[in-house]
Amino acid sequence: MTMDPFIPVNEPLLDGNEKIYLVDCIDTGWISSEGPFVRQFEEGFAARVGRRFGVAVSNGSVALEAAIAALGMGPGDEVILPTFTIISCAAAIVRAGAVPVVVDCDPMTWNMEVAQIERRITSRTKAIMVVHIYGLPCDMDPILALSDKYGLKVIEDAAEMHGQTYNGRPCGSFGEISTFSFYPNKHVTTGEGGMIVTDDEALAERCRSLRNLCIQTKKRFVHEELGWNFRMSNLQAALGVAQLERLDEFVGRKRAMGARYRELLKGIPGVQLPVAGVDYADNIYWVFGLVLKDDVPFDAGEAMRRLGEMKIGTRPFFWPMHEQPVFHKMGLFRDTRCPVAERISRRGFYLPSGLALTGGQMERVAAALHAVMREACR
Ligand SMILES: Cc1ncc(COP(=O)(O)O)c(C=O)c1O
Repeated sequence: MTMDPFIPVNEPLLDGNEKIYLVDCIDTGWISSEGPFVRQFEEGFAARVGRRFGVAVSNGSVALEAAIAALGMGPGDEVILPTFTIISCAAAIVRAGAVPVVVDCDPMTWNMEVAQIERRITSRTKAIMVVHIYGLPCDMDPILALSDKYGLKVIEDAAEMHGQTYNGRPCGSFGEISTFSFYPNKHVTTGEGGMIVTDDEALAERCRSLRNLCIQTKKRFVHEELGWNFRMSNLQAALGVAQLERLDEFVGRKRAMGARYRELLKGIPGVQLPVAGVDYADNIYWVFGLVLKDDVPFDAGEAMRRLGEMKIGTRPFFWPMHEQPVFHKMGLFRDTRCPVAERISRRGFYLPSGLALTGGQMERVAAALHAVMREACR
């Protein structure tokens, strides 16, 4: 057992203007969602992804919920999404009363298998929810072509994709509406937080209203519709403004970390490394994911346990939506099979990938993984 300290799977970097802006909130008394950093963060973030409007909310999960509601998805409507994603995506669809329809993912990029989408389109399909996974964007052109051909809305979940581009165009600028998360493992964090971005003014207004309990300007406490309190506080937005100032630096840092991990793990047996790039994007390594090859005699859980013994923090890959007990209980996905997602969810996990990770820590992580895999592939 090593005496070295535990290496957490994520540690954020908060050594820019975060403290200065937070002190400003306290000094001025602006701590609620009414404070000026909220608007500044919304405008700065929207501009950064090339959108006209930004609506800051309390996290990336509710950003999806408000986006789906704002688009008017409801009972009977079908929304196509990848099965390999976080529950927030399918939950937003189900909570709106709509029906999630899943597609499998690509074995190399782990993003939704675009070739499977068209087969899932029916007369009830209203939208495609695109989710960019772990650092590489989905192949957007064919998805946008399908949305044109069938008149479908596109909701882009860009939670993990701050600073990434698809063919030079920012992630978060595709489709009717896009969403982000600012959880501490994201390139820009506000502790908890999220953002909806869109070019459609009416849609932005609708999201603002839904975020704020559907309070009306003239009759404040008289409600025509039900909304939520999904507001972001000025304290959170203060962090966001400071973090956004460093987004390019953070993306550069993540790419350098990805390259360093690749170098350190070169030739490692039994492990599929993340794809470095595809013709439309270079990986930004939101997390550095790995998939154990089929000849490795254990699954991700065991690899993570062994790494944990060496004080290396890890996280499992997402568990597919079509295998979620909560959805089976609702009668959803009972006969759905998505073999790629089923395999990578059992054999995939990610290494410490936070922005504060040091070169020395990466060397320790790589040495530990080499030791685990040497043992496995003897
Ligand atoms: C793809 C994706 N969508 C949505 C979310 C939800 O964001 P949050 O944790 O801010 O609710 C996450 C969170 O990590 C995510 O990875």
